[in-house]
Formats: sequence, C-alpha cells, structure tokens
Amino acid sequence: MSLVDSLNWRYATTKFDTNRVVSDRDIKKLKEIVKLSPSSWGLQFYKIFIITDNKLKNKLLPAAYNQNQIADCSHLFVFCSLKEVFESDIDIMIEQFHLLRAKDDNYSRKSTESYASGAKKSILGMNEQKQTEWLKKQCYIALGQLMVGCADMRIDSCPMEGFKSDEFDNILGLKSQNLTSVVLLPVGYRSKDDQYQHKTKVRKPDNLLFVDE
Ligand SMILES: Cc1cc2nc3c(=O)[nH]c(=O)nc-3n(C[C@H](O)[C@H](O)[C@H](O)COP(=O)(O)O)c2cc1C
Repeated sequence: MSLVDSLNWRYATTKFDTNRVVSDRDIKKLKEIVKLSPSSWGLQFYKIFIITDNKLKNKLLPAAYNQNQIADCSHLFVFCSLKEVFESDIDIMIEQFHLLRAKDDNYSRKSTESYASGAKKSILGMNEQKQTEWLKKQCYIALGQLMVGCADMRIDSCPMEGFKSDEFDNILGLKSQNLTSVVLLPVGYRSKDDQYQHKTKVRKPDNLLFVDE
C-alpha cells in the first residue's frame, strides 16, 4: 500500500472500538515517529503526554465537550508546548546538540555555540504573543507527522482542537511545569459503527488549492 492509499484510508475517527488496544510495540514505533518530527531551530519545545488511564481520560472528557474519542481511544496523545521559553530551556537542548554531535567528523563546539546565540536572540527576542504562537505551531508539525505515521501503520486517530486548554492544564498539572496543552490526538482502532469511515473525502479541487507558476 502506498502512503497515498494510507492517507485515503485515514479519517478523523469519531468512534473508537473500546475493546482494542494499540500494542506497546506499535506505541514505541509511534513515539519514534513523533520524536523524529522537525521543529524550528530543532529545539522541540513541547512535551507529549500519552494517557491510557481510564479514570484520567474520563476526567478530561467534559473539558473536551464530551467528544467521546477522548475516553474511547486506546491512547490519548496530548501535545503541550512550553508556556514561555527561558534561556535555560535553550541551553538544555544545546547540550544535547553537543552530546549527540560530538562524534561527528565535522563537529565544532564553537559553531554550535554560535547557533545557540542566534537561537537565543531570535526566540527570547519575540514578544509574548509571537512566542506563544510560534510554540504552538511546533506542536502542529509533530501532530501532522504522528497522524501520517498512524495512517501508515493502519492505526486510527482524530486530531482535536475542540477542548478547553485551561481545564486540561489544571487536570494534568501543566502550569507548574511551564506547559500548556495545545492539541490532542486520540489513537486506536475505528469502531465498525463509526459512520464517518464511509464518507467520501472532501478536499479542495487542485485548481483552488495549487498555484502552478
Ligand atoms: C487541528 C484540527 C483540529 C480538529 N478538531 C477536531 C475536533 O475537536 N473534533 C473532531 O471531531 N474533529 C476535529 N478535527 C477533524 C476535522 O474535522 C477533519 O480532519 C476534517 O473534517 C477532514 O476530514 P478527515 O480528517 O476525515 O479527512 C480536527 C482536525 C484538525 C486538523
């Protein structure tokens, strides 16, 4: 099956089969897929909570306007961005660059340091609104990659913005961790009763979507 076939197979699942659980092996693979997402400056200023506990899922349900995917999925991925970037957050990641690239043939600590100072100037120089917006965008890139990965593995998912971020943050204790919830991806397996799987995909025609110049 080609990737295009997988993307035609996927749809925003509204009803999951509550009896089916994604295996640990597949979750490990999905973690690797989302971990490999690109991010601006390569700094990955987000954390991804993976929730399986039914009590916790049910607690979150009202904060997602009772959209039952939250409770019925196998694993609920909650993408959370940093609320604010501190210099120390950049330093932590720059240490990773040093650590992981030290063995590269052309590794230069000095050029990584100069990369870090460019990142600090750009990111710490943003006003609050711009930084918040920029941090959220990073989550969406990871979300997209995870969704495509799921489809490739024939695992169902539903991207979700329909939830009250403040309430999620309170329930998950995110504020004290300098985090805020941005977007959700419940994953699992479609129920046979989910009518949406039979609907024809609606997308813009090419002439409205692409400009070939
Ligand atoms: C960022 C984002 C947020 C979405 N939020 C919700 C949501 O809260 N609830 C829901 O049922 N579907 C949600 N959707 C699913 C879209 O409605 C769906 O992807 C779109 O209609 C296209 O259909 P398809 O994904 O089945 O091809 C969301 C999709 C995206 C990309």
